Amino acid sequence: MTSNSDWLQRSLNAVWHPCTQMKQHAMLPLLPIARAEGIWLEDFEGNRFLDGISSWWVNLFGHGNPRINAAITEQLSQLEHVMLAGFTHAPAVELAEKLSARTGGALGHAFFASDGASATEIALKMSMHAWQNAGHPEKKEFVCVAGSYHGETLGALSVTDIPLFREAYAPIIRNDHVHLAPSPDARLAAPGETALEVADRAADALATLFEQRDGKIAAIIIEPLVQCATGMAMHDPQYLKRVRALCDTYQVHLICDEIAVGFGRTGSFFAHEQAGIRPDLLCLSKGITGGYLPLSVVLSTDAIFNAFWHDDTRRGFLHSHSYTGNPLACRAALATLDIFETDDVLTNNRQRATYISHALQSLARHPSVRHFRQCGMIWALDVMTDRADFSRRYFANALKRGVLLRPIGNTLYFMPPYVLTESEADWMAQQALDALDETLGESA
Ligand SMILES: Cc1ncc(COP(=O)(O)O)c(C=O)c1O
Repeated sequence: MTSNSDWLQRSLNAVWHPCTQMKQHAMLPLLPIARAEGIWLEDFEGNRFLDGISSWWVNLFGHGNPRINAAITEQLSQLEHVMLAGFTHAPAVELAEKLSARTGGALGHAFFASDGASATEIALKMSMHAWQNAGHPEKKEFVCVAGSYHGETLGALSVTDIPLFREAYAPIIRNDHVHLAPSPDARLAAPGETALEVADRAADALATLFEQRDGKIAAIIIEPLVQCATGMAMHDPQYLKRVRALCDTYQVHLICDEIAVGFGRTGSFFAHEQAGIRPDLLCLSKGITGGYLPLSVVLSTDAIFNAFWHDDTRRGFLHSHSYTGNPLACRAALATLDIFETDDVLTNNRQRATYISHALQSLARHPSVRHFRQCGMIWALDVMTDRADFSRRYFANALKRGVLLRPIGNTLYFMPPYVLTESEADWMAQQALDALDETLGESA
């Protein structure tokens, strides 16, 4: 029988943890997890933690989901992996077809990779290369939105506007070809201004930028409806409608990065659907496998795919990753899609979301809270505090109460798996409130 402390020290010695200043683990918890089921994570000593952020926004239908488990196990007995260059297999084909159908056939070509950041890289390269192949080599600039986050690799960081992740690497990030468009974040509303008006204001500024750089821009990359990593900044779908129209006018590709917000997270299956539009390139990952295995995909239009169709090898899209289209990951994704098809997930989530919003009302009305907001199965609020270590202290205080919540700066958010029950929602909300009061009450 091992205990938490056995794994803790060995992990600190041997594992370099992501997105972490390792020295801070001297004061803050690193939690060894032994097993998980449904909404609950369990450590080596039997303590349980409600996964309030879906293990970094990936888990949809709970940990250890029997249907996804069964699909992976079945696939394991057939084929664990084969390279996808020169070979194909049923899970990749079926998944590509089903994802295409989910876009009404508008995005009929699936290019697989492993992580979200790889999908961003692929979409950027695909867009520029497609224009090059189509005789427009001058279209090589990109636009991203203030506060954007598209991953940690160098190309993805070039279209990411979060200084903390970029600054140290600025000398090797090439972004002289990237323009930053104003944010449509509804919190930027002037007194009396609506979210729709903020969206229009941001779109007007984008129109000016497109006009100024006419003929030079390959694509704009956007996180539709919710810019998660910057602190759950939400905008009106009107912004996406306007951006789509501008892209059509100025012949610019629209890349929707739905790595975090796809698969029902915002209330519709894909977030862009709420604006009644389709992108030219769609990046998906995270929830695609229900939170089981690393898989990402970029879906593209026929027009982009056809721009690469040629006798000349160099005009093909020669990008690759070793585990591209891994059969186990594709099976997990197919099982996830099956659950969406059979369980009326989006309708059930609407009811679930109504209840969770109600459960979070005491937090929303807390005197130190501003901008309580919700989109589908995402809730966020901003805490008025000067504490530079609010996020870390809150994380520790919530964990102590058995809830995994990990604020981004002063933004506390909830992004639970789609299996949270009403009583669990009430309990989570109460622990979150108590953790807030404790954190604000602590001396700095
Ligand atoms: C919108 C968005 N794009 C890209 C990424 C990067 O995905 P990954 O961490 O799998 O590389 C993330 C991760 O949080 C994300 O939220």
